[in-house]
Amino acid sequence: MRLGILTGGGDAPGLNAAIRAVARKALADGNEVVGVHNGWAGLVDDGGVRAIDPHEVSGVLAVGGTLLGTSRVNPLSDPAAMAAVTGRFRSEGLDALIAIGGDDTLSVARGLADQGLPVVGVPKTMDNDLQVTEYCIGFDSAVAIVTEALDRLHTTAAAHHRVMMVEVMGRDTGWVAVMGGLAGGADMIVIPEFPVGLQDIVAHLRSRRERGRDFSIVVVAEGARVEGLQDGAAETGPRDAFGHLLLSRRGVGPQLADRVEAETGFETRVTVLGYTQRGGAPTAYDRIWATRVGAAGYDLVVQGSFGRIPVKRGDEVAVAELAEVVAGQRRVPEELYRLAQVFY
Ligand code: F6P
Repeated sequence: MRLGILTGGGDAPGLNAAIRAVARKALADGNEVVGVHNGWAGLVDDGGVRAIDPHEVSGVLAVGGTLLGTSRVNPLSDPAAMAAVTGRFRSEGLDALIAIGGDDTLSVARGLADQGLPVVGVPKTMDNDLQVTEYCIGFDSAVAIVTEALDRLHTTAAAHHRVMMVEVMGRDTGWVAVMGGLAGGADMIVIPEFPVGLQDIVAHLRSRRERGRDFSIVVVAEGARVEGLQDGAAETGPRDAFGHLLLSRRGVGPQLADRVEAETGFETRVTVLGYTQRGGAPTAYDRIWATRVGAAGYDLVVQGSFGRIPVKRGDEVAVAELAEVVAGQRRVPEELYRLAQVFY
């Protein structure tokens, strides 16, 4: 068998662990393994596919990024691009493809599987918001980075008696904000699922001062909507190929810091964690689960079980349909959000 592997969308720690798992198992079974470069771009354009040998997938378990490269190229929006992908799939002589990605990448994989191509998915997004699966590659590493940052920000915020506004990733859901905030002891968490107004934030920070808490750490997800904040960028800012607003340019954290300082008079500083949350070595948890879902993706290929994806359910690897996983976003449950509020 000639097996292709592709990583698409935003990178995340643990992608190389998954590539390694797929490639090592497939090569051990005597298959030929090829890497598709830069996500779907590698199948839309010429020259985007090359053989992977065992040396290339040695020593990559602990390395962040993706050795295959990635992009947000979206063939789904253009029938000619989808035709190019299916054409290249066939001209490259691929017998199967494993697409490692989040909602966008897996929507393309699902579209190809619907056309009868032998495609399997593997769940990756540090946003952790794919349906059905309890694990997405990269989330645990992102939470660890946010937690360490909050620990560091606590001491400086306390020393200066400041409000520290900390912006983290999270376009539609606040998983990284809530889990990082819980682990790092945030004094308020603002996420897309539970909108709050500027005046709610101001009132909460004032009440903390009245209770003798002379510093506060506020974690805000980049996609959170805050009533009372002028947010022109939310409508008119630049977008990626999937039509998503580039939230790194929106700047909800800096905007909120300015308004909070103006309204409360409390000295306020802002830290945007940005792409640090996607960089560097994966945690042990990400290495283990990326290895498990990667290996299970290969098993699905061997079984001829296409249009499907390994998912985490409890401590087991289960199997779901690609269509289920991309059907919507898994949102932070109210129970977790309320739990974090106990410590405000
Ligand atoms: O992968 C999802 C994500 O991490 C979002 O939370 C964020 O908005 C987005 O990626 C930014 O990615 P990029 O700027 O690489 O397109």
